[in-house]
Amino acid sequence: MSAIDLRLLPTTASVDGAGNLSIGGVSIADLASQFGTPLFVYDEQHLRERCREAVAAFGPDSVIYATKAFLCKAMAQLAHEEGVLLDVATGGEFHVALQAGVPGDRCVMHGNNKSLDELRMAITNNIRHIVVDSFDELSRLETLHAEGLAVPRVQLRITPGVHVNTHDYISTGQDDSKFGFNLNNGDAHRAIEQARNSAAVNLVGIHCHIGSNVLAIENFEDASKVMVDLFASSGLQELTLGGGLGVAYTERDNAPTMQQWSTVLKRAAASLPSTARIYVEPGRSIVATAGITVYNVGTVKHIEGVRTYIAVDGGMSDNMRPALYESEYEVFDPARTNADRTERARIVGKHCESGDILVFNAPVAPNVAVGDLLVTPVTGAYGYSMANNYNKVTRPAVVFVANGVARLVVRRENLDDLTRLDV
Ligand SMILES: Cc1ncc(COP(=O)(O)O)c(C=O)c1O
Repeated sequence: MSAIDLRLLPTTASVDGAGNLSIGGVSIADLASQFGTPLFVYDEQHLRERCREAVAAFGPDSVIYATKAFLCKAMAQLAHEEGVLLDVATGGEFHVALQAGVPGDRCVMHGNNKSLDELRMAITNNIRHIVVDSFDELSRLETLHAEGLAVPRVQLRITPGVHVNTHDYISTGQDDSKFGFNLNNGDAHRAIEQARNSAAVNLVGIHCHIGSNVLAIENFEDASKVMVDLFASSGLQELTLGGGLGVAYTERDNAPTMQQWSTVLKRAAASLPSTARIYVEPGRSIVATAGITVYNVGTVKHIEGVRTYIAVDGGMSDNMRPALYESEYEVFDPARTNADRTERARIVGKHCESGDILVFNAPVAPNVAVGDLLVTPVTGAYGYSMANNYNKVTRPAVVFVANGVARLVVRRENLDDLTRLDV
């Protein structure tokens, strides 16, 4: 197998004559020795370019970054500076956005089971709109109205009954879904009617999100057609067509570009009046390829005739995706970036589970040894955001790199953090 495909790396990745990788003008070896491993490294230029590309493709104030993909104060600030709105799916995500200085009216709130407190927080902080997911949520908004809270602008999340080619766990637009108002059984129409007649909400639009890591552009086309028909007959002003644009995780994947995505959505919406306001909510496609994870190898175990296991100092606590969805990744040694990866190994973590796998059957450069660094690229989305303390490991640090400077944006947890909640 050949060397790592550089298209999987962030924009500013560069490799010197000896094969050492740098991102944002900072060498990975230096980052590992300064900040330790495991380490999340984000290319700030890449993040900004992806935000700009999305805004250029869809227009100003039309792109809502889905913060669940990766959120910390620095990320919220970066997206806000680039003119991108923020999708928060919980009070916790909203809290981080507010703490980062993002005004409430630059955020929208999601969630299939928002509590009264979360809804109250959204309204009192002047959220741009709430995407209402259920009849129970409409009742909760009536309760808050009775308390005298302001009337929020709302969109209704519709489940358009569209199947997508992605993992079942991240497929959300089919009839059998916990999310949204079902179109095919009439719930969507009933919810529109109810919201329209309610004094507790100001119904401005409808919303759908069919799933995540969608690689087949036809899936977006199918869902958009259904949503555009419903929107046209509803007389509403705002239509959100979700996020879900997939990315290439391995050399075998082909993902549509942001431009192709926008062309398909705009074509579907071409018949709508120019006053219709269209939003999209990309998460993964903004941050995934901007981030890499750097690990240190601690154990190499050869089982003759079976396989080689290479264990690193992180694992399912910093990247749950292989364990959750059998997601595939590439891996390489950042000191030998150009080396052909002629051997095979399973890259595993340090947790007490056989399912603690980072790469199932990875091509690796020959003779990976204890003390080597390994990098998994395309780990900028749903890696740190799903990170956990299983086995009481401390969560990694996150650095942003740009113009030769590394900026620590989330510090590494320490042992005291592991008992800070114990009473
Ligand atoms: C409502 C909603 N919008 C947007 C997204 C972002 O999806 P992605 O990161 O695949 O773009 C999600 C993720 O699941 C979501 O639930």
